[in-house]
Amino acid sequence: MAVVYTLLVLYLAVFVAGFILLVMGAIHFNFSNIEIPPGVNQPVKLRIIHIILITRSVVGKILENIGICSQLSFARYVQDRSTLGVDPKLFIEDLCFDKVPVRIYQPKVPFASQRRGVMFFHGGGWVFGSLETHEKLCRSIAKGSESVVVSVGYRLAPEHKYPAAYEDCLNATIHFMKNLEHYGVDPAHVIVCGDSAGGNLAAAVSQTLTTRSDLPKLRAQILIYPGLQALDFNLPSYQQNRAVPLLFREHAAFYALQYLNGHALHMEEVLEGSHIPIDMKLNYSKWLSPDNIPEKFKVRGYKPQVLLDCTTEVYEEVQRFCEPNMCPLLAEDAVVHQLPESFILTCEYDVLRDDGLLYKKRLEDNGVRVTWYHLEDGFHGILNLNGFCGFSFPSGKRGLDSVVNFLKGL
Ligand SMILES: *[C@@H]1O[C@H](CO)[C@@H](O)[C@H](O)[C@H]1NC(C)=O
Ligand SMILES: *[C@@H]1O[C@H](CO)[C@@H](O)[C@H](O)[C@H]1NC(C)=O
Repeated sequence: MAVVYTLLVLYLAVFVAGFILLVMGAIHFNFSNIEIPPGVNQPVKLRIIHIILITRSVVGKILENIGICSQLSFARYVQDRSTLGVDPKLFIEDLCFDKVPVRIYQPKVPFASQRRGVMFFHGGGWVFGSLETHEKLCRSIAKGSESVVVSVGYRLAPEHKYPAAYEDCLNATIHFMKNLEHYGVDPAHVIVCGDSAGGNLAAAVSQTLTTRSDLPKLRAQILIYPGLQALDFNLPSYQQNRAVPLLFREHAAFYALQYLNGHALHMEEVLEGSHIPIDMKLNYSKWLSPDNIPEKFKVRGYKPQVLLDCTTEVYEEVQRFCEPNMCPLLAEDAVVHQLPESFILTCEYDVLRDDGLLYKKRLEDNGVRVTWYHLEDGFHGILNLNGFCGFSFPSGKRGLDSVVNFLKGL
């Protein structure tokens, strides 16, 4: 008996020591690899969030190595542990729209007139994220703006490659548009909304719907720090914020490749820009160039890149980056011209900032009305931290309020 007891204590001690070492390793990694710009409020909080994410990723790696589960499924398992329970102000229901799982949030307030309907596509680099990870955000939008919100559980990469996620979002949106009366939604007030990769999907769905004269016209699109292109990972924002959590420059390229191909081969070429032929890059430079970024966004530092050519082999692997359904920034003017009124939120300390700025310019150049909200002290993912046990930032709250206020004005 005493032997068993001693062994148990020993195991426990080893386990605790291992965990302490792990956390110390994560802290060390955090201090040596990431940069938190002085403009970020509450930098310690951001560090702690990053350390938790690193620890999760290392634990996942260990579990993968000892054969318990993959790192990916562990991370998805952890992210989906939400225990929010019922919300007294919302009817929440899980349904399928044209075979795509959705969660619908309907405010319980009595409504005289018809309501807005918001299709919501969650972020997470097309690889992570779920109905659970964005539950709080969706509830806040539904309650704050008194709109019906439909969150879409689209298929994820790398298991399901492009265009699976896009098609799920499109099909769910079309299904919703054909059944608006069931939810008391006004056909003149359907909006698409998404954050990060979800912003990419919202932009792509908006573009596709411009050709559907059989469906109600979208009232607006809301793009929250969207990723909109994969041709240039050296724009000023990518250089300035390359090591700012929660999205590093390498990760932006990694996720785009996972979505496109289900693997991240040729990441080096994608990062340095030798994945697309020079003549094509020059052809796109009217829409995708650091020259289209206002000077004030270059003062934190920017080194112009030398144009590199690419091999046929690499280009063949990634050429679908040039499809607007994958990279909405590359849509023709004839399409952009027909897009609905738009809201774009960008964060100063976000690699994707310039994707948003470039798309804003394209929309404005094509006569589309844009409401732009820039979080001067914001970083990527900040809106989704709202309400998470003390991990929210005032800036994220302001961002959420700006989205809600935009909706209320429609
Ligand atoms: C989306 O809907 C179209 C038309 O109904 C259908 O042909 C297509 O298979 C659907 N896509 C997916 C991924 O279910
Ligand atoms: C150049 O861009 C236009 C879109 O503005 C496109 O229609 C055309 O095919 C492109 N040409 C080449 C060589 O990529």
